[in-house]
Amino acid sequence: MKARDSPELRIMLGDWIKKKPSEDISCARAANTDRPLRAADPGRAERAESHEDTVQSFSTGNQRTVLRTRKENIPCPRMPGARVAVVTGSNKGIGLAIVRALCKQFEGDVYLTARDPKLGEEAVKKLQQEGLRACFHQLDINNLESIRALRDFLKATYGGLDVLINNAGIAFKEADTTPFDIQADITLKTNYFATRDACHELLPLIKAHGRVVNVSSIVSSMALAGCSPALQETFRSTTITEEELDKLMQKFVEDTKKGIHKEEGWANTAYGVSKIGVTVLSRIQAREMQKERKGDGILLNACCPGFVQTDMAGSSMPKTPDQGAETPVYLALLPPDAKEPYGQLVSEKAVKEW
Ligand SMILES: NC(=O)c1ccc[n+]([C@@H]2O[C@H](COP(=O)([O-])OP(=O)(O)OC[C@H]3O[C@@H](n4cnc5c(N)ncnc54)[C@H](OP(=O)(O)O)[C@@H]3O)[C@@H](O)[C@H]2O)c1
Repeated sequence: MKARDSPELRIMLGDWIKKKPSEDISCARAANTDRPLRAADPGRAERAESHEDTVQSFSTGNQRTVLRTRKENIPCPRMPGARVAVVTGSNKGIGLAIVRALCKQFEGDVYLTARDPKLGEEAVKKLQQEGLRACFHQLDINNLESIRALRDFLKATYGGLDVLINNAGIAFKEADTTPFDIQADITLKTNYFATRDACHELLPLIKAHGRVVNVSSIVSSMALAGCSPALQETFRSTTITEEELDKLMQKFVEDTKKGIHKEEGWANTAYGVSKIGVTVLSRIQAREMQKERKGDGILLNACCPGFVQTDMAGSSMPKTPDQGAETPVYLALLPPDAKEPYGQLVSEKAVKEW
């Protein structure tokens, strides 16, 4: 069976993927331990990295000192003023693959975050076994206290944030019998409203030349095409405000409760409408950022990872999670002098017309 014919792909393209979201879990943060061996004069230092250890040897006169530090014991932050990247919803799937790629390519601390600390710590251990070092912080984007705890931690520890990837998301499975209006409510709460809340708290921390990537989906374009011409015009508008977008996302949920969302011009997909929200929110945020932080060189975009084999989309999707991470990571690591893409929906590293 070709991937294109798979039930999961049909679900994503049709009335969309559906999954029962798991329970909220309370806030906690993993502790990191440090075990430096000896201080030394870094007069002449040689450095060698193995999968497990950082080995430094120093020569001073006839003396030779060898420092060996277990990678898993290097504390976060690695050093004062280190650069820092945060990926939401990264204990599995595309989020975990993004963390894996950033651990290899990003110069600085990479935070794997999860709403369930146990799942987060297991994922950090999995990366350790691959020779990679990620830091962990709890984050449930549906919980303002949890978002603010992360915000305060980043502010106090790093003085801000260099890379933010808003990846956390949910989708109901096709077979789920939860009524459509409840699915709409729950899906919009996480994918749109909670992503917006995380952005409210974390965007002000973004440092000059920072990168923000909101993981949306090409499904947002397809859902847009399924909306009435009036709604399409509104969602494509370059003057729509966040307040207006909030009201429209809320209206969709209310229209589903009244059973009139189709008459009101909405596409019949809770996941698709939630991702319209993420794409349009990204366009608005980019516009605002241009006004408020002009000259700071920050780049903010929405993206689609492609159709990826994860718990959300199923195993018959064409891409592996590592392949799905490529476009988000490309946007997160755009070079400091890059001017674009900016405020776009990007798929396969290319800008898609909205
Ligand atoms: N897979 C695809 O083909 C595809 C295509 C286009 C776009 N996307 C988007 O890509 C992103 C990642 O999807 P995926 O396929 O990797 O899905 P996944 O395997 O189901 O992973 C979703 C991640 O988000 C986390 N999450 C959900 N609600 C959260 C919350 N309130 N706070 C913090 N984390 C939360 C989940 O945590 P738990 O483990 O605790 O549930 C999990 O770590 C989503 O935004 C999705 O819409 C996926």
